[in-house]
Parts: sequence; structure tokens; C-alpha cells
Amino acid sequence: MNGVLLNFDGVKNVVQETDYELVKNDVYRAHDMLINKNGAGSNMLGWMELPENRDEEELARIISCAEKIRKQADVFIVVGIGGSYLGARAIIELFTDPLYNLKKTEERKGPQILYAGNNMSPKYIRSLIEYIEDKEVVVNVISKSGKTLEPAITFRMLKIFMEEKYGVGGAAERIYVTTDKEKGVLKELADKNYYETFIVPDDIGGRYSVLTPVGLLPIAVAGIDIEELLDGAMFASHLYNENDLKNNDCYKYAAIRNILYNKGKTVEIMSSFESHFHYFIEWYKQLFGESEGKDLKGILPYGMDYTTDLHSMGQYVQEGKRNLFETMIKIGLDRSFIKLPEAKEDIDGLNYLAGKDIDYINKQALEGTYKAHIEGGVPVVLITITDLTPYNVGQLIYFFEKACAISGYILGVNPFDQPGVEAYKQNMMALLEKEE
Ligand code: PA5
Repeated sequence: MNGVLLNFDGVKNVVQETDYELVKNDVYRAHDMLINKNGAGSNMLGWMELPENRDEEELARIISCAEKIRKQADVFIVVGIGGSYLGARAIIELFTDPLYNLKKTEERKGPQILYAGNNMSPKYIRSLIEYIEDKEVVVNVISKSGKTLEPAITFRMLKIFMEEKYGVGGAAERIYVTTDKEKGVLKELADKNYYETFIVPDDIGGRYSVLTPVGLLPIAVAGIDIEELLDGAMFASHLYNENDLKNNDCYKYAAIRNILYNKGKTVEIMSSFESHFHYFIEWYKQLFGESEGKDLKGILPYGMDYTTDLHSMGQYVQEGKRNLFETMIKIGLDRSFIKLPEAKEDIDGLNYLAGKDIDYINKQALEGTYKAHIEGGVPVVLITITDLTPYNVGQLIYFFEKACAISGYILGVNPFDQPGVEAYKQNMMALLEKEE
């Protein structure tokens, strides 16, 4: 069942029927490039068939490793950067308790989940190594290239820590590697030390890899149903495959982004009223930023956590430069069921809300913001997830991946490469005096 509902009413002030006519052929051409694999980056389309052509044997191995890790570990560390960790973190934070890591082991029923290798902050690395000293630790190091400096440095520190703590053989029982099938030093290390290894398919780039072992192993360790996630993505792969701008919400969203961009709306804000959506928004930022920001073009993807950011960035959105549009995410059914109690003395003046669900109050904030932003000249696409389930989130992930591919092709860029990421690396390596 469709659990991701798109509402485009909030762009009507800016996007007219004639605009759709102008972009229609570009959308159909983009569809053709994906289906017939004849566009730029067509060797990187493995994500499209992933939910349908799933490797059952690999899935079973992921699930069994995840069960083993849940028993082995007090702390599970996901080492990776960019596409090699954002998808996993996005989904884990959507489905685990917001205070998951702070809860007692019996309450959590799984290991604490920490992330590393996504920066080179010495303070963070020292703190992590000190924290895990007396804990049972399992590491999943994820790097497609197997040579990215941030995870490589962190992994070297953790490998030495693990070998000192458990011995070389014991460490090998607790290190899981996700990398290329043959390239890179990480693969070499994994083979030499007999680490359990999962493969990142050649035809799937980092930011499209959340439904490969890159994302699925950590997500399964968090106790989330990865098969349901893939089922939702498979549903989306059928739902969003019609080459029809009117009926295909995914293509309509991609078209609207480009229409707005051509009307000077060069910044897209992805917003949500749920703090546990923060990392989903980070995942979206990478997906679209890395896919479209090239050849001196591209919508700048930005993120806002409401209502928090309404008190810091709300002023800008309401009255700043009018180069913004917004994609607002709403959760239909909230299962927290927590009401504001009545106070004996109404000193804080909140008794008028007593008995109301906090979700109801939060949703009024959403409705109010939605209306205010449209009236302020910020077109808004509203995406409602009817219920926050792995199935619906699987659908949402595929929706954004496909929308990004279509949108990138409409824009006239290759949505599957990232040549610009190399520039800082080359300078850094030269400064670090790395020998070739
Ligand atoms: O999407 C991408 O390609 C990047 O974000 C990569 O995932 C990121 O740079 C990490 O690369 P790797 O997995 O090779 O360590």
C-alpha cells in the first residue's frame, strides 16, 4: 500500500500547468535514460533493481551476522563516511528510541551504536577509544574504495585496540568489513585477517548504497526488519516506474524541483518536525548535493529540524532572500501517544492545551509553518508518511533515489559521479606528503 503521499498544492502559486508542459519531454527523456541505461553514469544503476533482485543468500548472512553481533557486543561501531554511513544512521535513528544509547542493556536489547571514521577530530577519536576500553566491542568498517583516509585512520586505531584487547584471532571474530570485491587495501586487510566480509556492488555508488550490505548490516544490528525495508523499496520501484508526469509523483517531484530552480529557487530545504529525522535529512543532503552539484549547476540541498530551527533559521525562511523552496516531511500516525497533563495551578497558562496529544500540538505547528512559508513566498511540497514503518521508509528511500536520478538528468548532469570530491583530497595528500 502507498505509504508516501505527495501534496503539491503548496507550489501552485509558482508552478503553472504550462511549466509542466515545458519540462515534460525532459522527464520522459530522463526516464528513457534510466530504463535503457543510455545516459551519463549508466554503469551505476545497480540501485534500481536492488530491491527486486535481492540476493537471498547474502540477506540471510547479514541477518545471521547481525544476530551474532547483537549477542557479542556492548558497543557496535560503524566506521564509514558519506555514503558509507549516512543511510544506515538515517534509518537506525528513525526506528530506535531517541535515547537508545543511554538506556540500560536490558531495555535496549541490542548494543549501543556509535559512529566513527566520519571525521578526523582527535578529540572524538580519543574519547571513543577511552569509552570502549572496558566494553565488548564489534566494528563494522565500511569503505567502497577501501582507502578513504577518515575511516582508514579510525580503523587502524580500532584494529590495534581490538588486537590488544582480544588477540589477533579474537579481533577477527569481531571485525566485519564491507568493501569492494577486489580493490583497495581494506579488502587486502580483510583477506589477510579472515574478517567476515560483505561486498559493495560495482554498479552502486556510495550515496545510493543504503539498501546494500553497506546499510543493511548496521540496520539489522539495530534490530530493524531489513526485508520489510526492501519490500517497501520494491513497491516503490513499481509505483514510480510509469513514464507519466501526471500520475508518477516521483517524476512530478523531480520536475517541480527543476521548474522551481529555473525560476530562481536554487535552495531546497528538507524539513521535518521529528528530531529523529535529522540524519535522514543528512542522507538526503548528500544524495542530492553530490548528484546535482556539478558543472556549475545544482540546487543546494539544505536541512531544517523543526520546530528547533524555526527559532534560529525561521526568520530567514519567512523573510530572507526568496531563492528557497521547501520539501516538508510529515508523519501521519504518531505512536507515542503522550498527552499534556492538566496542572492544578495554571501558572504557565498551558491548561488550554491540557489533555491534548503532543503530536496534535506538533502537527498544528506544522500546519502553521506550512501556511506561513507558502504565504511568505516559499513553495512547499508536503510529503506525508502515513505510518513510520520500515516498509514505508523503504518506499521513501527509493522515491528519493529515483527522483534524484531523474532530477539530475533533467538538469543535464551525471547524477552518479562526484569528481569534485577529489579536489580537497589531492591537496590534503600533498600536504601530508603521501608518496605515490
Ligand atoms: O557517495 C559517495 O561516493 C561518497 O560519499 C562515499 O561514500 C564516501 O566518500 C566514502 O567513500 P568510501 O566508501 O570509498 O570510503
